[in-house]
Amino acid sequence: MKKILAIMLAVLMVFAICSCGKKEETQTNGDTNETVVDNNDAQPADDGEDAQPADDGDDAGETDEESGTLVMATNAFFKPYEYYEGEEIVGIDAEIAAEIAKKLGKELVIEDMEFSSIITAVQEGSVDFGMAGMTVTDERKESVNFSSSYANGVQSIIVKEDSPITTVDDLFGDAVYKIGVQLGTTGDIYASDDFGAENVIQYSKGNEAVLALVGGSIDCVIIDNEPAKALVAENEGLKILETSYADEDYAICVAKENTELLDQINVAIDELTAEGVIDAIVAKYIK
Ligand code: ARG
Repeated sequence: MKKILAIMLAVLMVFAICSCGKKEETQTNGDTNETVVDNNDAQPADDGEDAQPADDGDDAGETDEESGTLVMATNAFFKPYEYYEGEEIVGIDAEIAAEIAKKLGKELVIEDMEFSSIITAVQEGSVDFGMAGMTVTDERKESVNFSSSYANGVQSIIVKEDSPITTVDDLFGDAVYKIGVQLGTTGDIYASDDFGAENVIQYSKGNEAVLALVGGSIDCVIIDNEPAKALVAENEGLKILETSYADEDYAICVAKENTELLDQINVAIDELTAEGVIDAIVAKYIK
C-alpha cells in the first residue's frame, strides 16, 4: 500500500513539474511584450497560478510540442523569394519554409513586416524564425544565429537604360550619385559604408526605390539580383549592370537561445537538399 502511494505521489509530482515548465514557455509569447521566465520561483501546478495567458491565436515563440505552428517573419515584397499572390504570400522562401514546417510536424504561419524589424522580432521571440532572402553577415550574427545557407544572393545595381553609370566602378569614381536601397538590407549597409550615408536613400520596399529611380530622383538602386530582375521586368527603361556589387549567402535566422529549433531547421534543410526539394522549388521560381 505504501509503495503504491509513493508511486502515485511521484507521478503527481512529475505532472506538477511538467505543467510548470510549460507555463513558463507559453508566457514568453504573445503581443504583450511580456517575458516571464523565472525558473527560481517555479511552483507546483496546483497553486492557482497556472492560468495560461489568453490565447490570441498567435503561437509565436512556442517551439515546444505544445505549439502546432511555426511562425516565420518575412518582408513579402521580394520576388521571387516572398511576395503576394492575392492575399497569399508565396515564393521560394515561403515554399521552403512550408517544407521545413512539414518536417517538424507544424503548420507554417507567415508574418509580413518591415525587413528592418525581422531580427528584432526573432530576438524578442514574437516569431520563431526569420526568412527573407536574408544575407548572413558577421554583424547580424551578433544578434541571431543563422542556419546553413539554402541559396546564394548577389547585390546588383539597377540603372536607367541611358544612365552614365555603366559599371560598379563608376559608383566609386569622382561623380556623386544618389543610391536607393531597401532600409536595413545589406545593399543599404554596404552602400552607406562605401558611398556615405548622405548619398544613400532608404526606402521601406525595394519597389519604392525603383519607382524613385524611374521618377528621376535617384541615380541607381542596389538590391538583390533576383528581385532586381523582377523589378526591371515590371518597369520600362531600366537595366541591371552586368558587374555585381557583392556576393552573399541567404539563411534562416533564429534566436540565439533557440538552438533546438536551429538544429531542427538545419536537419530539415539537409534532408530537403538531399531530396532535391530545394532545387525543385528554386527551379520553379527562377527559370
Ligand atoms: N539580402 C539582403 C539582406 O539580407 C536583402 C533582403 C531583403 N529581403 C526582403 N524580403 N525584403 O539584407
